[in-house]
Order: sequence, then structure tokens, then C-alpha cells
Amino acid sequence: MSQHPDNPLLPIAPHGGQLINRIANAEQQAEFLSKADFLPRVQLDERAVSDLELIAIGGFSPLTGFMEQADYERVVEEMHLANGLAWSIPITLSVTESVAEPLKEGSFVRLDDATGRYIGVLELTQKYRYDKAKEALKVYRTEDEKHPGVKVVYQQGDINLAGNVWLLQRDPHPLFPTYQIDPAASRAQFQAKGWKTVVGFQTRNPIHRAHEYIQKCAMETVDGLFLHPLVGATKEDDIPADVRMRCYEILLEHYYPGDRVILAINPAAMRYAGPREAIFHALVRKNYGCTHFIVGRDHAGVGDYYGTYDAQYIFNEFAPGELGITPMMFEHAFYCLRTESMATTKTSPSTPEERVHLSGTKVREMLRRGELPPPQFSRPEVAAELARAMKVPMV
Ligand code: ADX
Repeated sequence: MSQHPDNPLLPIAPHGGQLINRIANAEQQAEFLSKADFLPRVQLDERAVSDLELIAIGGFSPLTGFMEQADYERVVEEMHLANGLAWSIPITLSVTESVAEPLKEGSFVRLDDATGRYIGVLELTQKYRYDKAKEALKVYRTEDEKHPGVKVVYQQGDINLAGNVWLLQRDPHPLFPTYQIDPAASRAQFQAKGWKTVVGFQTRNPIHRAHEYIQKCAMETVDGLFLHPLVGATKEDDIPADVRMRCYEILLEHYYPGDRVILAINPAAMRYAGPREAIFHALVRKNYGCTHFIVGRDHAGVGDYYGTYDAQYIFNEFAPGELGITPMMFEHAFYCLRTESMATTKTSPSTPEERVHLSGTKVREMLRRGELPPPQFSRPEVAAELARAMKVPMV
């Protein structure tokens, strides 16, 4: 099911049927502001801020707040919300016992960002303890605290605060305001362009030629590409979002048909939850209006925690049509020296020695040594921008 279930000519329905909007209206905003000094405060970290934002703009539809226990438990155990809708990642606001203790269920809580700025309100309906080791094992498939997603779970507080939220106002993104295209706006843009099918692409890396190849294979069969890099919290050694955004702009300018691609930012934080996160990434892109979603090799993976195609196999755990967005799966792509083109083992007769593939880690090491990745791996304009950003002298 890639289109709206009741009418194939309407855009794809958001998850749960309705695009959530939890941005305070003028009246609510005035009321919340008048209470600013009287409400108890909770300070959010970068990930919770981006979760609040995504709930408010509808990226996490049908969620209207941080998860209550029934949703949380079922998501962790069974990848479904309490109402039976598919959902794979817990969206929680975890605080320490001392922060949670004075907060009363049934009251309103002021949500501040890390700088102490008042950004939202939580109507606290539940406080509950949760089992971190279980969350780690079920969601991340490992209890290893070296896993960057598991590490966050172990470091966060022991109590989840749950309830509906409001974002006080939608501010333009400080770095990429023109690429802040929220779900209502992306849906409108797809419709204005007459796109009936749109493939979403998640990325946290500069786009290399394997990414370009799988995007373009997908673009051959759909109307448009929604290039949707994640710009929320990532691990320290990932390439910073501003550098990546410049690389995407350069790539689009030189190598893509401008009228078939929309570049927009996804404010989400990376969880590195591999398979579970692939489902989550797909549902979020469905909310942005995508009908299709690319899942390649080791999607949202890190280290050796997941098998190369685990993030594809997990889609089989859902009933046909249940997710409401169609995954487009791709094999590990590489540059094939024998056929002189990008390929996968599905399309190339090459031996392993004839395949040019570099991991992100290898590329970062090369750049640090002052070497540029080869044109078979990265478009030269992108490599030059990466080198410039990493202060590698050009040779
Ligand atoms: S991710 O954490 O956002 O998944 P990355 O930005 O590297 O990391 O990947 C973006 C998408 O491209 C994912 O769907 C991933 O599976 C896919 N991908 C990355 N490299 C390759 C490759 N060499 N071959 C096929 N798919 C790939």
C-alpha cells in the first residue's frame, strides 16, 4: 500500500491516519508564556529536544507526546504501540529520580533546552521506571555499553516522564533554515510537483557514489527523491551536518536533475539501532509524505552489531501493507572495475578484487592522512569539499 488507502489519487496517509500538529497556537502560547515562571522545569538534552520537535511537527505521527508505559512496553517487546500500530523505537523523556520526584502527575511541566530556553510544555500523565538492559537488548540487540545507542540508554535517567507535549513555537533551524521543510510542507511540495510516488533517503554521511547509485536506481521508478539527511545528534566521529549539507548541495548541483529532488533536513537524533531504526526511519518518512523508502546495506548500523541485511529482513516481521510505505531494498553497491560502472553482485560479474568499496571510517582515515578518496568512490567535487572541511591540503 503506497498510496492513501481510500483514494489512490490522494497523498499517502500519515502513520495512524492524521498528521499530528503539537505546535502551540497563539492562545496556548500566550497561556504557556504567562505560566513560564510558575511551572516546574525539566531540561532536555539534544535528543529530547529533537524528539519534541518531531512530535510537534508530525514527523512522529501518531505520537502526541512522550510515550506512556503501555506504549513503551509494547514498542520494546513487540514493535507496536498499545493501539496496535507499528512502531519500533521508544520515544521517551528519561530523567533522574531527583528530577522526577517533585513532579506531580496531572500537572504541566515546562520544558527547557540545554541553554535554559523555554521551548515546550509537557502535560505529565505518568512517571514510570523502565528496564534499561531489556530496552538495550530488544531495541539495539545488544547490552554492550560501547554501542552508541545503548550508551545513551544507560547514561540517561531511570524514570520516564510521559504525556502530551506542545512546542511553544517553530523556530527556523539556526544553520539550515531553507532546508527546514516540515511534513505538512513536504507533502504540499510533493503535491505541487505532481509527484505521486516519492522515495525517501535517510543518510548521516556525505553522499558517496554507492548512495548516488541506489538513489538513482530508485529514481528510475518513482516520480521524485526526497533527500532527507539527519541533522540531529550523531556520534562524535560522524561528519558534522554543516559539512554534509554543503556536500549534498554540491552533488545536487552537478549530478542530479534539479526538478526531481527535494533536499530537506530531518531534525532527528541518530540511535544507531540498525534494523529497528530502519522501520522507524521509514515511518517518519511516510509522515513526510514519502511512498517509498530506501534501505541499503547495514542501514543505521554501527560497528559489527548487525548483519549486512538485517535492516531489510526486519520488514518481513510486519504484515503486508501494515507499515504503509514501501521499502526499496538494495544490495551492497560498489564501483566495478570490470564493467566500469556502479553495480552490486546482482548486476556485475566482478571478483572481489575488482570492486571499489570504502567504508566511512576508511574515508575519514584517508582524509586525515591528506589523501582524497578516489573518483570511483566519491565525486571529486564532494571529495574536495570534504578535504577542505577537514583541512586537508589539496594536491
Ligand atoms: S545510515 O546510518 O544513515 O543508514 P548512511 O548515510 O551511510 O548511514 O546510509 C544511508 C543509506 O544508504 C542506508 O539505507 C544505507 O543502508 C545505504 N548504503 C550506504 N552505503 C551503501 C552501499 N555501499 N551499498 C548499498 N547501500 C548503502
